[in-house]
Amino acid sequence: MSISSRKKWTAAVAGVLVLATAGMASAQGSKEAEAAIKYRQAVYTVIFNNFGPMGAMASDKMPFDAARFRRHAGRVASVAAIAPDTFPEISKDGNTRAKPEIWTNKAEFDQMMADFLNKAAALATVSRTAASVDDVKAAFGAAAGTCKTCHDKFRVD
Ligand code: HEC
Repeated sequence: MSISSRKKWTAAVAGVLVLATAGMASAQGSKEAEAAIKYRQAVYTVIFNNFGPMGAMASDKMPFDAARFRRHAGRVASVAAIAPDTFPEISKDGNTRAKPEIWTNKAEFDQMMADFLNKAAALATVSRTAASVDDVKAAFGAAAGTCKTCHDKFRVD
């Protein structure tokens, strides 16, 4: 084998290796991305399922049950604390309704997330001493408002 053909061969092998490595990285990446997206959606599903019964009580569609309301509010506050961890950069591409602006407009997104956590915590606090539905309505409305504000801006309809 001449020196020049050996060089070509070496270059070709190196090229194949680079392609193979890149292919592995992207397959790995999308698997990781899908897992991260699924985790995020699961977290929001838990939040939603605990939010629903509180909404029914707050809008007088279900009789107020102070203990139940308190339980749901506590769960929403705890699980909400996980939500900020569910937006790693890798999770912006894939089977997701998260808008890319979450990662390009991070300051505003983080602000909305912080507002959500604060309002969810306030709702949990109020629910601990609530005797009637009137005691929780304002705090519930404030928390619900933070879901809508973020969805309107950062979630695909
Ligand atoms: C700071 C932003 C933000 C806040 C606050 C927020 N969400 Fe979301 N939510 C999102 C984004 C982004 C998605 C899209 C997730 C995805 O598809 O990867 C989402 C998705 C969801 C989903 C769909 C989950 C699925 O299985 O696809 C539900 C249900 C949901 N949110 C409920 C709520 C509720 C209820 C609240 C308030 C108590 C709330 N969210 C607050 C940003 C937010």
